[in-house]
Amino acid sequence: KKGSYDHFMQKEIHEQPHSLKTTMRGRLKDGGVLLGGLKEYLKTIRRCRRVVFIGCGTSYNAALAARPFVEELTGIPVTMEVASDLLDRQGPIYREDTAVFVSQSGETADTLMALDYALENGALCVGITNTVGSTLSRKTHCGVHINAGCEIGVASTKAYTSQIVAMAMMALAIGSDQISTQARRDTIISGLNNLSSNVSEVLKLDVEMKELASSLIDSESLLVFGRGYNYATALEGALKVKEVALMHSEGMLAGEMKHGPLALVDENLPIIVIATRDACFSKQQSVIQQLLSRKGRLIVMCSRGDASAVCPSGSCRVIEVPEVADCLQPVINIIPLQLLAYHLTVLRGFDVDQPRNLAKSVTTQ
Ligand code: UD1
Ligand code: F6R
Repeated sequence: KKGSYDHFMQKEIHEQPHSLKTTMRGRLKDGGVLLGGLKEYLKTIRRCRRVVFIGCGTSYNAALAARPFVEELTGIPVTMEVASDLLDRQGPIYREDTAVFVSQSGETADTLMALDYALENGALCVGITNTVGSTLSRKTHCGVHINAGCEIGVASTKAYTSQIVAMAMMALAIGSDQISTQARRDTIISGLNNLSSNVSEVLKLDVEMKELASSLIDSESLLVFGRGYNYATALEGALKVKEVALMHSEGMLAGEMKHGPLALVDENLPIIVIATRDACFSKQQSVIQQLLSRKGRLIVMCSRGDASAVCPSGSCRVIEVPEVADCLQPVINIIPLQLLAYHLTVLRGFDVDQPRNLAKSVTTQ
């Protein structure tokens, strides 16, 4: 089943040009978006007071990646909930809320308990899942199957990118009644149509990521700084590294750097800074300058052709990725980090598909 690959995680990373196509298949039509599972509910969702995203782990990170474009395309306020934390706080959920549950397996205990809680509180409950017939799919009022194909590696990879794309289509469908954002929606739809070929392009960084992994093999820790559309990329990249490569790693909001994390910076700690083109680009340029002036050991991810714009001194290691519509950039940017986590794990001699202490689906609290 792994075919020519050594591990399922590797296979699933390289499968993403295809899995993203199946996520979009039949859903981008006549310049618009058609999600059969949401069609009847779009009017209700448009009238809601807020969207609450609920999930755990990688699925939470996918929702975080979706948050900025859902806010932008729908104008509806979006709040984020880690399922267990919502339950711990018994946080307020109202009838006027649309609660969107994101789960690859559709069987995660915390997510399902949060679903019961939201149903009791009368919210409209929407599922985003990879598993047809799962508890999540059955118990939600409506939803979207992401159709990424079976994911076997414990570390979620192709489901993450398909979840983001499914939520991008959801945001486009909810916002489709707004004339003022039509041009923006057209740009994103054409970005979706070209996404798969850009994912094939970025996968060519495999060898480069293996080299980078071999330079990081003995590091104790790895920081990842992102912001805006790519805050989620920082969290998800760090989660991959910690869960499979068993290396301490933290994703951080670059805007918070001066409020604590800067104290960690020295010439040894590797730091990945995500600085692809979007509205936050110049802010990331200045973050890079500040880190360099503290002698930070930087690895900068930037858009193709931007190496000297992000690191004029030439003292950073640079990863150049293809540029896509800004809000879809997280789908591209996570891939080098998935490859890095994969190679780090193999080089460090750990089990890629069955990381220590972890299970694919966490069905107990
Ligand atoms: C559906 C069919 C697909 C077919 C297509 C043709 C299924 C599972 N999907 O896809 O095989 O090719 O029509 O038009 O038969 N749902 C939830 N919660 C969730 C996820 C989904 O309630 O978490 C519901 C949806 O609201 C919908 C149904 O499940 O009623 C199927 O969802 P989805 O597979 O996303 O719908 P289509 O893309 O229309
Ligand atoms: C990380 C990972 C976990 C899951 C989490 C939620 O690679 O796989 O963090 O994302 O356990 O699982 P689902 O999406 O099945 O609810």
